[in-house]
Amino acid sequence: MTTTRGIILAGGTGSRLFPVTVGVSKQLLPVYNKPMIYFPLSTLMLAGIRDILIITTPEDQGQFRRVLGDGSQWGLSFSYVVQPRPEGLAQAFVLGRDFLQGGPAALILGDNLFYGHGLQERVSRAAAQRSGATIFAYEVADPSAYGVVTIGPDGRPTEIVEKPSEPKSPWAVTGFYLFDEKVCDIAARVTPSPRGELEIVSVIDAYLKAGTLNVEFLGRGFAWLDTGTHDALLEASEFVRTIEHRQRNRIACIEEIAFRAGYIDREGLIRAAQPLSKTDYGRHLLRIAAESA
Ligand code: TTP
Repeated sequence: MTTTRGIILAGGTGSRLFPVTVGVSKQLLPVYNKPMIYFPLSTLMLAGIRDILIITTPEDQGQFRRVLGDGSQWGLSFSYVVQPRPEGLAQAFVLGRDFLQGGPAALILGDNLFYGHGLQERVSRAAAQRSGATIFAYEVADPSAYGVVTIGPDGRPTEIVEKPSEPKSPWAVTGFYLFDEKVCDIAARVTPSPRGELEIVSVIDAYLKAGTLNVEFLGRGFAWLDTGTHDALLEASEFVRTIEHRQRNRIACIEEIAFRAGYIDREGLIRAAQPLSKTDYGRHLLRIAAESA
């Protein structure tokens, strides 16, 4: 059985964060104490995904490689590919076709942050599913800024619309998607929308029309934050800081997830923690290592 491979889409223009993102990729900006990309990376890891393709702009790839390396330090495997221009989310499956080797795929947007009790169970269960597609829907105050999915009386999705001016439901489609092995062929048939992008909604809509789209609802117990504006970025940082100060838990602590999943051993954890030892982050890792001795 082919295992699900993951793609992090970390290109884009970041124009809503200008001038901050003129010289640096949005996905490398800090969300409190970690580069933003750690958050979507941690979600893929919680879903049990270890083979990951990182899609960046041509200019930024070097910096991502410097931050993330080849993944082996965390028991992961990273590949890299550039997206010459930000031509839409569905382009991930054009650029990622070779990487996916004809198997199922998880796609996560590099600026999406998920947090909540039971997240690991929800995402790993969805990733283990072998046919159709799964999207995660989140009830938002203003759905018109998102892809919106409408649900019928039987709980099944009936329609999906990108940024509707009059949304028919409060359920926004979040930036984490799971697709079966048909996804590359479906994406290859998508044509650019009026705004000139290969829309992920078009890919999802193909699954919906085939009757194979599964919608998972992330309810009250979950936080879904995107970090695309100055306010949203600051709010996400404050959210992470509040939780990390209040609890012993850390959010998106890659090394800890890798250690608990058995991808790295205690020595590997200590090795990863040492360069961070001047930070609370590093001290947290060393404490975990000490407690597991
Ligand atoms: P967006 O937030 O829609 O776009 P953006 O990041 O370019 O920002 P802005 O709207 O401020 O100009 O993108 C969502 C995520 O997907 C983000 O992490 C960037 C990534 N992305 C790509 O990697 N390639 C693309 O073609 C697009 C559209 C987005």
